[in-house]
Amino acid sequence: MTVLVTGATGLIGSRLVTQLQSRGEPVRVLTRNPSRAQQLLPQAQVFPWPRLAEAVEGCRGVVNLAGEPIIGRWTPARKQAIRESRTQGTQRLVQAMAQAAARPPVLVNASAIGYYGASETAVFTEDSPPGQDFLAQVCQDWERAAQPVQDCGVRLVIFRIGIVLGTGGALARILPPFRAFLGGPIGSGRQWFAWIHQDDMVNLLVTALDNESWSGVYNATAPQPVRMAELCQTLGQVLQRPSWLPVPGIVLELLLGDAAQVILTGQQVLPQRVQAMGFTYQYPTLAPALQAIVG
Ligand SMILES: NC(=O)c1ccc[n+]([C@@H]2O[C@H](COP(=O)([O-])OP(=O)(O)OC[C@H]3O[C@@H](n4cnc5c(N)ncnc54)[C@H](OP(=O)(O)O)[C@@H]3O)[C@@H](O)[C@H]2O)c1
Repeated sequence: MTVLVTGATGLIGSRLVTQLQSRGEPVRVLTRNPSRAQQLLPQAQVFPWPRLAEAVEGCRGVVNLAGEPIIGRWTPARKQAIRESRTQGTQRLVQAMAQAAARPPVLVNASAIGYYGASETAVFTEDSPPGQDFLAQVCQDWERAAQPVQDCGVRLVIFRIGIVLGTGGALARILPPFRAFLGGPIGSGRQWFAWIHQDDMVNLLVTALDNESWSGVYNATAPQPVRMAELCQTLGQVLQRPSWLPVPGIVLELLLGDAAQVILTGQQVLPQRVQAMGFTYQYPTLAPALQAIVG
C-alpha cells in the first residue's frame, strides 16, 4: 500500500507524508537531496531521482508535487528551472510509470490556478480557458506532460492549486509586516485571492488517491475566495494588529520577487468539480483558516 511522493520535502508534500504515515501507510519519497529528505522525513523510504524506476514499482499511487519554487526573481535561468522542473520531472515520472512491471494505478499531479491567467472580473472554473502569461504557459505544459500516463490505463487527477495558507509559502512571507503593525491592503485591495488551507489541500490529495471516482482536473481552492482587502483585514483581526496601512506593490515585490505578480493581480477561482464530488472542507471560510495557522 505504498505511496510515492515527489516534492515531499515541501510545504504540501511534508504534510501529506505525515498524514499518510499516520494511517500506517509506507511512503516513498523521490528527492534531489536524499540526506536532507531522510532527516526531514525519517520514516520515509528515500530515493534519489536516478532510482525513479525502482521507486515507482508496485506503489498504489504517485503524488507529483516537485517544482522549483516561484518565489524570487524570475531571471531567464529561474524561469527555465520553474518550467523544466515541472515538465521534465513529470515526463520522467510518466515514462517510469508506463514502463513499470507493477504499475501504480493512479497519478495525482499538481498544477496551479496560474493556469487561468489573472483577472479582477472573471470567474474561473475548471472549464475556463487557459491564460497567456508565463505561469499559465508553465501550467499548461505541466498538465500536458502528465496526460500521456492515461494511455497506459493510469487514472490521472490534476489539482490546479490555489494559494496555500500554511506554515510556509507566501503567507509566511507576508506575515512579518502584519506582525510589525505595518500590514494593510496589498496593492489595489480589489484583486481576488483564491486560497486553500494546507489541511484541506492534503485531504484533497488523499481523497483523490483513495477514490477511483476522482479523475481529471479539479480546482484546489476554498469555496469562498476573497478580495485582497478582506484577506488583509481578516489577517489584521486574527493577529490583533491594525491593518489600515496600505502595502504598496513594491514592498510585496521585495518579499516575494516576481511571484508578487500572482498576488497583485489575482484570480477568482471556484472549486466547482471538488464541490460536485461532495468533498467536505475543514476550512471553507477564511477567518478560521487563518486563525488555525497564525492565531
Ligand atoms: N504552495 C502553494 O501555494 C502552491 C500553489 C499552487 C501550486 N503549488 C504547486 O504545488 C507543488 C507543491 O507546492 P509546495 O508549496 O509544497 O512546494 P515547495 O514547498 O516549494 O516544495 C517543492 C518541492 O519540490 C522539489 N523541488 C524544488 N525545486 C526543484 C527543482 N528545481 N527540481 C525538482 N524538484 C524541485 C523540492 O523537493 P526536494 O528538494 O526534496 O527534491 C521541494 O521540496 C509545487 O509544484 C507548486 O508549484 C503550490
